[in-house]
Amino acid sequence: MEQFCNNSCFEEDKKCIAPLYGKASVDFVKGKGSYLFDAEGNKYLDFVSGIAVNALGHAHPAVVKAIQEQAAKFTHVSNLYPNENQIHLARKLLANSDFDKAFFCNSGTEANEAAIKFARKYFNRNGQPDRAKIVTFFNSFHGRTFGALSATGQPSLREGFGSMPGDFVHVSWNDVEALKAVVNESTCAIMLEPLVAEGGVMTISSEMVTTVNGLREKFGCLVIADEIQTGMGRLGTFLGSEFYGLKADIASLAKALGAGLPLGATLMSQKIADSLKPGDHGTTFGGNPVACAAGLAVVNEITKPLFLESVKERSKEMKAGLTMLASKYSFLGEIRGEGLLLGVCSEKPVADIITLARAEGLLILRAGANVLRFLPPLNVSAAEIEEALQKMDKVLAKIC
Ligand SMILES: Cc1ncc(COP(=O)(O)O)c(C=O)c1O
Repeated sequence: MEQFCNNSCFEEDKKCIAPLYGKASVDFVKGKGSYLFDAEGNKYLDFVSGIAVNALGHAHPAVVKAIQEQAAKFTHVSNLYPNENQIHLARKLLANSDFDKAFFCNSGTEANEAAIKFARKYFNRNGQPDRAKIVTFFNSFHGRTFGALSATGQPSLREGFGSMPGDFVHVSWNDVEALKAVVNESTCAIMLEPLVAEGGVMTISSEMVTTVNGLREKFGCLVIADEIQTGMGRLGTFLGSEFYGLKADIASLAKALGAGLPLGATLMSQKIADSLKPGDHGTTFGGNPVACAAGLAVVNEITKPLFLESVKERSKEMKAGLTMLASKYSFLGEIRGEGLLLGVCSEKPVADIITLARAEGLLILRAGANVLRFLPPLNVSAAEIEEALQKMDKVLAKIC
């Protein structure tokens, strides 16, 4: 491949890539397990995991093997034909959840887009075509396409993009009275992240879980669980809704599902599947055989006995360590989250802490305005958790 003379990827990126991201100046060249390596040979403990994507870390042998073997057979046939890898992966996802059918797509936003369409089609085909209202929550993040963006509870992300699909109503997170006030017999669905991730690592209250389950029962509205960040074992259970006892009719998955290849899934109960017909929805690449081979490798690992137990153990260690740090550094506040989706509130600018952490060889990220977020690979070791906490201690000492 052509080299960039003396310029780094960072400089070359600015010249030819649309300026949509605030990228860090680092050129990664290799990954192994929980670590990434840059062009200068520096080593980073990766607690970003490609934003909750690399659940098994980098270059996991089972994932590499699955991708290589399928790529050598064929990379694509289209959804005009059945695809063995899709079937195996669907079976695994359904066996580990309460859903009956799967639709595969390429990303989180597409999985949510499909979820919204399927929910509306369900009522349409069942004699209630006007039942379109979807209730979601402020601070939620559901994606960037128009439907998912309408669902997203962050008005600033919609600014300047013109009119949005209608019939989306937002209420405050964990505000059960506000939710009860807007949900009724004309509600199509309540759509929620079991744990608000991007918006600030905010857990759901048990009162909210009871209320959502109760409204679903009372009005027959659907519940769409956006499991894009919370699913695939991130909270120590296969799905986040399982962790909280939240009942859902549709769940969207992506991120960790494809082990870094673009893959999303919308899981649904039988009654939703029964209301769909060929041609209602579709995608060229969705459920691509290579992506599904990678997905199957991930699900096989995550569902091995004791895998999710170890996620819970690592979570306890990480929470205990963050609690220690919060007691040592007064500008740190509440520890948030569950499993290996954890955050800590900071009164000092999180962007500065993230930059210093990177210089210390630790990759972490932000959530909401003032939360430091930790998303280690799910197979992270106890020693790596300890290493991350020690690095954080050094970084926080510099911030004081
Ligand atoms: C909860 C949630 N839903 C949806 C999305 C959108 O996923 P994608 O970026 O793959 O479209 C994200 C991405 O961060 C997410 O965290």
